[in-house]
Amino acid sequence: MITNTQSIKLDSIGGEYGSLIAVEESQTVPFEIKRIYFIYDVAPNVRRGFHSHVNLWQALICVHGSVKVEISNPFEKEEVLLDAPSKALIIGPMVWREMFDFQPGSVLLVLASEHFDESDYIRNHELYLKMARSWYEDGM
Ligand code: TYD
Repeated sequence: MITNTQSIKLDSIGGEYGSLIAVEESQTVPFEIKRIYFIYDVAPNVRRGFHSHVNLWQALICVHGSVKVEISNPFEKEEVLLDAPSKALIIGPMVWREMFDFQPGSVLLVLASEHFDESDYIRNHELYLKMARSWYEDGM
């Protein structure tokens, strides 16, 4: 995986009554969870994200349906398919992300390490590349 990202397989507790997945802060995911949000009702042709964060850690879990996530930095790029609720994608600081190919009805759950803070976003890709180059070259 590219720097500051990780794919995690979540344990599903299953049985004749259905399935259950638990996520615990600082255990299942490598950060304290201060916020959750979910993205839904996204049309199939819509691409969203288009930003990096400076400090935030997030875990993305597609709890219903499927979505693709492109994660990149100035030196690496990767595409991750989230098509099962047991797959979590961890994304840390200074990683550019774009989400696309939402299957109709999909729900993307996001667990985040901080409260919402617009000043933690880098939304301009040119600026991101400039900041990330020096950030990665200075060894984070
Ligand atoms: P944004 O993070 O840009 O969405 P995406 O990366 O999925 O395209 O957020 C979209 C809008 O929602 C933006 O105006 C900020 C707002 N927002 C909040 O108010 N609180 C939140 O926790 C989040 C994630 C977004």
